[in-house]
Amino acid sequence: MIFPYYLLAVTLVSATELRHNHRHRSESSLPPSQDPFYAIPANIAAFSPGEIINYREPPSRISAFGWTPTHIHKAYQISYRTTDSHQNATTGILTALIPPNAEYDKILSLQMAEDSATIDCSPSYTMQASSQSSPMLASNTTALQLLFAEAALAQKWIVIVPDHEGPRGSFTASKVTGHTVLDGIRAAKHSNHITGIQRNARIGLWGYSGGAAATQIAITMQGAYAPELNISGVAMGGLSSLAEASDIFGINKGPSAGLIPSAMLGLATQHPELQRAIDEALQPQFRDLFYSPLHQCLQAITVLFFHRDVLGMFRNGSIPGVTAELVKAWKDENNFPQAKIKAPLYIYQSIIDHLSDINRIDAEVRDYCHQGVSVHYERANATNLNHVKYGIVGVYKAISWMQDRLDGKGASRECVTLTDATSTLDPHLAALFPKNISDALFALINAL
Ligand SMILES: *[C@@H]1O[C@H](CO)[C@@H](O)[C@H](O)[C@H]1NC(C)=O
Ligand SMILES: *[C@@H]1O[C@H](CO)[C@@H](O)[C@H](O)[C@H]1NC(C)=O
Ligand SMILES: *[C@@H]1O[C@H](CO)[C@@H](O)[C@H](O)[C@H]1NC(C)=O
Ligand SMILES: *[C@@H]1O[C@H](CO)[C@@H](O)[C@H](O)[C@H]1NC(C)=O
Ligand SMILES: *[C@@H]1O[C@H](CO)[C@@H](O)[C@H](O)[C@H]1NC(C)=O
Ligand SMILES: *[C@@H]1O[C@H](CO)[C@@H](O)[C@H](O)[C@H]1NC(C)=O
Repeated sequence: MIFPYYLLAVTLVSATELRHNHRHRSESSLPPSQDPFYAIPANIAAFSPGEIINYREPPSRISAFGWTPTHIHKAYQISYRTTDSHQNATTGILTALIPPNAEYDKILSLQMAEDSATIDCSPSYTMQASSQSSPMLASNTTALQLLFAEAALAQKWIVIVPDHEGPRGSFTASKVTGHTVLDGIRAAKHSNHITGIQRNARIGLWGYSGGAAATQIAITMQGAYAPELNISGVAMGGLSSLAEASDIFGINKGPSAGLIPSAMLGLATQHPELQRAIDEALQPQFRDLFYSPLHQCLQAITVLFFHRDVLGMFRNGSIPGVTAELVKAWKDENNFPQAKIKAPLYIYQSIIDHLSDINRIDAEVRDYCHQGVSVHYERANATNLNHVKYGIVGVYKAISWMQDRLDGKGASRECVTLTDATSTLDPHLAALFPKNISDALFALINAL
């Protein structure tokens, strides 16, 4: 099951590396941890949430698997004020991607799955060619999601990509994530002098996997944190079905075991007590390995922890203590003021997703419907579509649904559940990419 992903990684990443042997000077840019553009200004509290602090064009070329998406006409990085998990002012960064002939009254906020615990894995950086020569920071997940962005840009929408884990790589810390997404939308609406975006632009939100988690938090928080925003539609797929923080231990020894240290360390960036508990519990010989998510992105971390026994890295008897701190921090992060979701939702999920239990997602959809939220739910039943593959295959229908929302068509008030029997990439979507990339996507999806 996992082998085909490697195939894509090997085909696409090695070509990228080759090209970097002939790297041009302008392809270099500093990682965010060393780049003053990302630094939090001393007077950050003087800005209001969503107020723009600074902007620039990305220092290096935007690139997905060596290719610059053809529908990126202009790109800007914008820094703005947001709020961390302790209600302190902090900095958010977003990348605004502007297509040729943009419709400046349509914004799609695309939350990219990052699943890492350092600012150096922020999509604003990993979408640039300069990051892709580093074995530690290269991100084929970002590259894949840039292809998603390209599909949205081809609709002439402006795509904004927030670095939703905030300045410390706070993976799984809900509060800073939700604030960063919502203040990013505010900043985009204030960015007319930079981007041309209209203040009254229609707004959509979209995310898959870790990006869906960020999207779901933002939309749950929106009515209380940013009630002035009018969201036209929200698409999310590959949602996580974790009910408790400690449920994540269920993927121990599996192909995605690297998500355990990344999630724990990401949450610990906002919770010093959890950080202390982890530090005390680790056996000395596993410290460097466990802490590697602090300087490597998901792609490298996946390989390092592939089928590893992460729980076995803790001292005997220390797991209950660490678990208690983990559960406490997670509860705190998810204890925020909520208001009823007004925007219509599009939820898409493969029934054979190794990161998610379909029964729990079904139940979540039922809950939304009981609360009166409009949900269009697509359950993919093709037997070849695991988590990653449906993320790619599901793009076309998600974009079509979003198109109606951004065109101002009202969604059905009723909840609908449909079976998505699509099993491969839509040819219209494939046609957006160069042949080497669409061929690799087809190979990935069609492989057993
Ligand atoms: C990205 O690379 C990692 C490590 O090689 C691999 O496990 C993963 O499947 C790849 N993902 C994609 C979408 O190519
Ligand atoms: C795929 O083709 C595009 C356009 O021809 C090129 O820019 C890119 O570098 C190629 N990517 C890979 C991974 O070969
Ligand atoms: C954040 O807020 C908390 C509680 O209000 C305060 O104790 C702490 O010093 C603040 N941290 C920073 C870095 O400003
Ligand atoms: C861990 O501790 C328990 C009891 O505290 C003991 O029974 C067990 O053998 C220990 N395991 C290891 C691997 O040391
Ligand atoms: C998926 O559902 C469709 C529609 O209900 C059905 O025709 C098809 O046989 C199903 N495919 C599988 C693999 O179960
Ligand atoms: C919100 O947006 C919807 C659809 O775009 C529109 O019909 C509605 O009038 C807007 N509501 C407000 C309060 O702006």
